[in-house]
Amino acid sequence: MKSTQVVGIIAALVVVAVVAYLLGTMSQKPPTLTTTTPPTSPTATTPSAKKITFYTWWAGLERFAIDAVIGNFTKKTGIQVEKTAVPGGAGVNAKFAILALMQAGSPPAAFQVHCGPEMLSYIYVAPKGEASFVELSQVAREIDMSAQAADVLSACSLNGKVYALPVNIHRANLIFINKQVLDKLGGNVPASLDELVALCGKASAAGVPCLLQAGADQFTILHLWEQVFLAAAGPQKFIMFMYGTLPPDDPSLRQSTEIFLTLAKTFPANWPALDWTGAVADLVAGKGLAHVDGDWVVGLIYNVYPQVKMCPYSAVTPDCNIIVAPFPGTGGVYNLVIDSVAVPAGGPTTQLGVEFVKYFAGPEGQSIFNPLKGSIAVYKNIDPAIYPTSIQRWEVGEYRNAKAYVFSLTHGALFSDVWQMLMQQSIVLVQTGRADLWYDTLSKALATERSLWKDTWYMGAPGKPFGGYQPPWVK
Ligand code: GAL
Repeated sequence: MKSTQVVGIIAALVVVAVVAYLLGTMSQKPPTLTTTTPPTSPTATTPSAKKITFYTWWAGLERFAIDAVIGNFTKKTGIQVEKTAVPGGAGVNAKFAILALMQAGSPPAAFQVHCGPEMLSYIYVAPKGEASFVELSQVAREIDMSAQAADVLSACSLNGKVYALPVNIHRANLIFINKQVLDKLGGNVPASLDELVALCGKASAAGVPCLLQAGADQFTILHLWEQVFLAAAGPQKFIMFMYGTLPPDDPSLRQSTEIFLTLAKTFPANWPALDWTGAVADLVAGKGLAHVDGDWVVGLIYNVYPQVKMCPYSAVTPDCNIIVAPFPGTGGVYNLVIDSVAVPAGGPTTQLGVEFVKYFAGPEGQSIFNPLKGSIAVYKNIDPAIYPTSIQRWEVGEYRNAKAYVFSLTHGALFSDVWQMLMQQSIVLVQTGRADLWYDTLSKALATERSLWKDTWYMGAPGKPFGGYQPPWVK
């Protein structure tokens, strides 16, 4: 890694280290101020206490699924899981808090991470690189994942090795449309970028915000750009972005940015103050036409707005409130967001951390977690009837029949400092409309991304590169 990039990561770490430290200590008992009992660090609990720390961003209105898993795990094993939840959708704060702990040599027993290159950022900063994490391929075999979820496991593999076990499959390329607002406008569910732009034009003419995106936790802004890019560029170029091998002057970057800026004009006036849960609240209340996001929105609506009826675009009923459809122009593609859990090696609670991930990623943990989370389980032999929403049952078919799979850039496909830079600059892009600055950022992001991939690293298993794209440096 180049020294400027290390400095970039470290600078971000310093800012958040304080937050991480405060959150870490706040979630524990205050240290006893005697000379014999030193203050505890997050991993300093003894194994005999049977207590571990799990770092996550599933907090607030997103807590239901993880709390159900932890409750059942503790009941079954007697192991307490102290959830240190660092709020901020998509891990906008948590990722850097975890990086800071890793860097400081006091990692938690287990932490939330996305399958994909995101894991590489942790490997980079950890004192012993890959050896700082438990290699989980054997655990995957023990919980039958290798047999029942070979495709996801291969997607979660770095050079064929598994460092984080998947607990679900989320889909990022979705649009959520308020049916009553759509009916009032007299529109149809858009199937292409052109149709979306036309529909948003119609909404704007009627004084209705078209896309309820959220600036306060930043990620849904980059998320929207990403979806437009996926529609404009297609899966192959999208995967090249992940590896940083897409030429920065590829026309798809310009084309998607222009469309994105047109769509950004249709955000509500309060977009900088909204976070994703606020945007969903406004969508449900009919304060705008649509919201572009992943299917954690399905979990949020299911848990928090039980009276709201969601339906897939292919089966719209008159009593439906929220229509869920693939983001226009991305039908047939599954933009993967795979939540997973990694376990740092060599700590006093490492073994308990392994037990936790084994349960959570196993069939029982996934059957508790996914129905409440809005996602689907990775196991092929889990019956879709366990899902409480028609959206999840529809997604099982969409996932199995997809013609292409890509990792979401906003949720795991980028090194963390590249991701942060793009997220921040996407906000500036909306605020200023300065496409020229954004093209510079894209160019820098692609170059940094490319340089951070070691010349031996790739996603997938030997002979089975992720998404069918073999980066040029892998012979
Ligand atoms: C994603 C994550 C989801 C959900 C979402 C909003 O990155 O994979 O599980 O938490 O962020 O916070």
